[in-house]
Amino acid sequence: MNHVVVETRDRVTSIELARVDKKNALTGDMYRAMAAALAAAEADSAVRAILIYGTRDCFTAGNDLKDFLDRSAAGGPSSAFSFISMLPKLTKPLIAAVGGPAVGVGTTMLLHCDLVYAAPGARFQMPFVPLGLVPEAASSLLLPMVAGYQRAAELLLLGQPFTAEKAFAAGIVTEIVPEDRLLEHARNAAAAIAALPPASVRLTKQLMKRQTGQAVAAQMTEESRLFAERLQSGEAKEALTAFFQKRKPDFSNF
Ligand code: COA
Repeated sequence: MNHVVVETRDRVTSIELARVDKKNALTGDMYRAMAAALAAAEADSAVRAILIYGTRDCFTAGNDLKDFLDRSAAGGPSSAFSFISMLPKLTKPLIAAVGGPAVGVGTTMLLHCDLVYAAPGARFQMPFVPLGLVPEAASSLLLPMVAGYQRAAELLLLGQPFTAEKAFAAGIVTEIVPEDRLLEHARNAAAAIAALPPASVRLTKQLMKRQTGQAVAAQMTEESRLFAERLQSGEAKEALTAFFQKRKPDFSNF
């Protein structure tokens, strides 16, 4: 079963997440497929933009929580980190279309996108703290930068779902687009970028990222160290087990 469908057409590489029965929750194989697609798009001089989207009603439920549980037992390197650490290094514009839930990395990856279009019904969430974890993808640096500290603190500390309007106000979303035109709108934006002078696009993106590049990489490394530690914690084990047992976690004894 191919859970990531990659296609390059008209100078745009499209990455479609298609693990419908699990709300596009991301497995190691899916991260590897996405990373390979990004690398191929970067290496191909004919590709001018990259578009990522999920199914009509779901972007992605984030990292597969079963994989988190397995890693909390076994440790080991994360294919998620390899994917995430490629995002700030992309030289070509990355465009996202978010049609439904965008949880965890589903939201944090948007902070590395150049254009983010969301349907009015899209729902965002960064539930790292409720899961006993810490933020990733440099979101603990980038979100305070784009949203301001207080807005970021609410979204990252409470970790509750929020609307497309709130995501727009926080600077995570470029534009809210009616659901039935969402993908077409994102494709048109990708096509518009693909028609522009490529060196000018690349240099402009590079200039905008110039000040933050090193800080983003350093923050990702620190987040990743703490994240791996937190996966081993009793708090995370309780939160992850509770999700699959479909019950509320109990942190009263920690
Ligand atoms: N990892 C593994 N499985 C997941 C998953 C995840 N991140 N998110 C959803 N699923 C599975 C559910 O276990 C369920 O499987 P089942 O049918 O075998 O019981 C199926 O996908 C459908 O999920 P469900 O919760 O019933 O759908 P929903 O429409 O009510 O809610 C979400 C959708 C995305 C809001 C909800 O599934 C959710 O919050 N998921 C967890 C997200 C999360 O915490 N991600 C990690 C971020 S760090």
